[in-house]
Amino acid sequence: MTKSPSPLVGTTAERVAALTSENPYLTSQPKPRLLIVGAGMMGREHLRVSQLLGWADVQGIVDPDGGSLEWACSDWRLLTKAPLTIYRDLSEACLDDAVDAIVIATPNHTHRDVLHAVAASHKPVLLEKPMATTLADAMDIVHLARDYPAVIQLGMQYRFKAQYVEALQAVAAPNALGQVKTVAMSEYRPPFLDKVNQWNKFNRNSGGTLVEKCCHYFDLINVVAQSRPRRVYASGDQAVNFLDFEWQGEQSDIDDHAMVIIDYDNGVRASFTLNMFCRELYEELVVVGEHGRLVASEQASFQPDTPSTAQLLVEVPEHPAYRGVPVGYPDWIEASGHYGATFFEHIAFNLQLAGQEVDAATPEQALWSLIVASAAQHSMRIGREVDVSAFCEENGIAAFFDASINS
Ligand SMILES: NC(=O)c1ccc[n+]([C@@H]2O[C@H](COP(=O)([O-])OP(=O)(O)OC[C@H]3O[C@@H](n4cnc5c(N)ncnc54)[C@H](O)[C@@H]3O)[C@@H](O)[C@H]2O)c1
Repeated sequence: MTKSPSPLVGTTAERVAALTSENPYLTSQPKPRLLIVGAGMMGREHLRVSQLLGWADVQGIVDPDGGSLEWACSDWRLLTKAPLTIYRDLSEACLDDAVDAIVIATPNHTHRDVLHAVAASHKPVLLEKPMATTLADAMDIVHLARDYPAVIQLGMQYRFKAQYVEALQAVAAPNALGQVKTVAMSEYRPPFLDKVNQWNKFNRNSGGTLVEKCCHYFDLINVVAQSRPRRVYASGDQAVNFLDFEWQGEQSDIDDHAMVIIDYDNGVRASFTLNMFCRELYEELVVVGEHGRLVASEQASFQPDTPSTAQLLVEVPEHPAYRGVPVGYPDWIEASGHYGATFFEHIAFNLQLAGQEVDAATPEQALWSLIVASAAQHSMRIGREVDVSAFCEENGIAAFFDASINS
C-alpha cells in the first residue's frame, strides 16, 4: 500500500505539494482550539500562523501586559472576524473547556512556572525555546513531560527552515556525504530586538545569549552529529551591543559574539560562530562527510519587504545540488514568520494533536541543546574547556547524561 504524502516528509517541494486547503487529518472532528500564553512578538506569530494554516482555531490569549494584548487584538482583527477571548487568569484560561491545546510564548525565565500552571489542565502543549534558563529547570520539565498524559512539543522550529529540511535529508541520504566528520554552523545578524520589559537584555532572564538564541543551532548540530557531546570550549563576550544599555537601573550583561567548539563521542567535531553586530542576517551550516561537503545557507534581513534567499549545495558526484540550488517555501508561507519554519512547526503540533507521531523536538532533545548551550556559556566564563559529563554532574543531571549512553 502506498503511503499518502505528508507535509512533514520529503523535500520542501514535496511537503508543500502535500498541503491541502482542508486539514486532511481531522476532517471528521471539530478543529482543536488553541490558547496562546504570552501575546508578544512570538505569540502574535503563533496567532498569524495558526490562522494561515487553518487547522486549529484560536480560542483566546492570556498576557499580563496591556500593550501586548492591544497589539495582539489589533493583529487578530486584521486576520479574521472570529472572536478572541482575553483571559485575565492563566489557570482559568487553561482549565476552560473551550481550550484544547496551549502554546506557551512567554519569556524564557517564566517557562518552567508557566508550564507547571498549564500542566494542571493535562492538555497538549507547544512550549517555546529555550525550554528553560537553567539545566535544573530544564530537567524538571523533562520529568514533568515523562509523566504527562499529553504531548509537550518544544519550539525548536529551525528544523523546519527550508534549507535545514533539505540539508538534514541530504545528510541522512545513503550514498551521499557518507559518515559525517565535521559540522560548522554560523549566524551573523543584527542585535537582539526590543522585548516587553527588555527581558532579553539580561542573562538571568534569557539564560545567556548562547542559550536564548543559539539553542536552535545546537539542536541542529546535535541532530547532524547523531551523538552525545563530550567536550565544549567557547570564547565570547559583549563587544559592541547594549554596552550603555540600562533598564530600571540594571546594566545589560548579554554577550554579542562567541565561538564554540564541540567534540562528540563518535568523533564528530563541530563549531559554531555567532556575531550579533551585523547589519543583515546570514546563517550557514557546513557538513563534511567522507565523500563530500554540504553547505546550507540563508541570507535574510529585518528590513521590511526584503525576501530571504536560501541555498543548498552538495558537493558529491552526480548530486543535483552539486553547484548549488535555491531552496525555500512559497512566499505566502515564508512571510508568516521565521521563513515558514513556524508554519511547519504548527503542522507538526496539529498532527500530534491528531495522534500522529512526527519528527518534532522532544523535551529530551531540547535539554541536549541546552546542555551544549549552557556548557558553552560556562566555558566562556571560566576560560577553559568543559567536560560535559562532569558539567552535567555539577548541575545535578548526571542521571540524564548517563542514561543516554545506551539510549
Ligand atoms: N522559536 C523561535 O524562533 C523564537 C523566536 C522569538 C522568540 N522565541 C521565544 O518566544 C518567547 C517569547 O518571546 P517574544 O519574542 O515573544 O517576547 P516578547 O517580550 O515580545 O513577548 C513575551 C510576552 O509574554 C508576556 N508574559 C510574561 N510573563 C507572562 C506570564 N506569566 N503569562 C502570560 N504572559 C506572560 C509578556 O507580557 C509579553 O507580552 C521566548 O521564550 C523566546 O525565546 C522563539
